[in-house]
Amino acid sequence: MRSERDPTTGYKILRADESMLEEIVEFDRRISWELLEDSGKHGNYEEFQQLHRRIFMALYESPGDNVFFVVLDSDNKIVGLLWLKEEWDTVYYKRQAFIIDIEVDARHRRRGLGKRLLDEAAKYALSRGVNSMALRVELANKKAITFYRRYGFKPIAYIMERELERV
Ligand SMILES: CC(C)(COP(=O)(O)OP(=O)(O)OC[C@H]1O[C@@H](n2cnc3c(N)ncnc32)[C@H](O)[C@@H]1OP(=O)(O)O)[C@@H](O)C(=O)NCCC(=O)NCCS
Repeated sequence: MRSERDPTTGYKILRADESMLEEIVEFDRRISWELLEDSGKHGNYEEFQQLHRRIFMALYESPGDNVFFVVLDSDNKIVGLLWLKEEWDTVYYKRQAFIIDIEVDARHRRRGLGKRLLDEAAKYALSRGVNSMALRVELANKKAITFYRRYGFKPIAYIMERELERV
């Protein structure tokens, strides 16, 4: 998919191909690191960089086609990213478009880019006959929850976790 550049904002949204993978990894790493810094949970950047690449690539190579939509600014730099994989919903036995990640560079937020990325993901899913999108969001990420709710997402399940020190 190629999209025209918006003449007023200079942004362009397109479906990225394999050639943009390295730039995508770097963008995701930067935004993920900023989120960790905000939460006060960041450690050593060098270690994080290696861990991030390992986990990103493990997910990338896991079963299912990887679909990336990116927002490019007027210098063709990535300022927004949505990563989608189609999965089986094993409760209702239907295909589902699962949003692995969506992120917009902090300097470009609240300009409707996140919504436009979700629109592209929704259009893509529908074109494949898939009529539901899902994602995981941390309860602490209040801004993202507001953003998703605003788009029409509703919570339908809990993810439960227990720390394992002893049984
Ligand atoms: C969540 C995120 C992708 C939203 O991107 P965005 O481009 O700023 O979102 P939009 O401008 O399209 O917002 C659409 C609507 O969502 C709501 N919204 C978005 N960000 C919000 C915020 N920080 N606080 C409250 N409402 C918000 C608003 O209703 C907004 O419409 P409005 O600006 O007309 O009021 C972006 O904040 C981000 O990258 N966050 C860090 C990464 C992250 O947490 N990703 C989610 C991981 S699960």
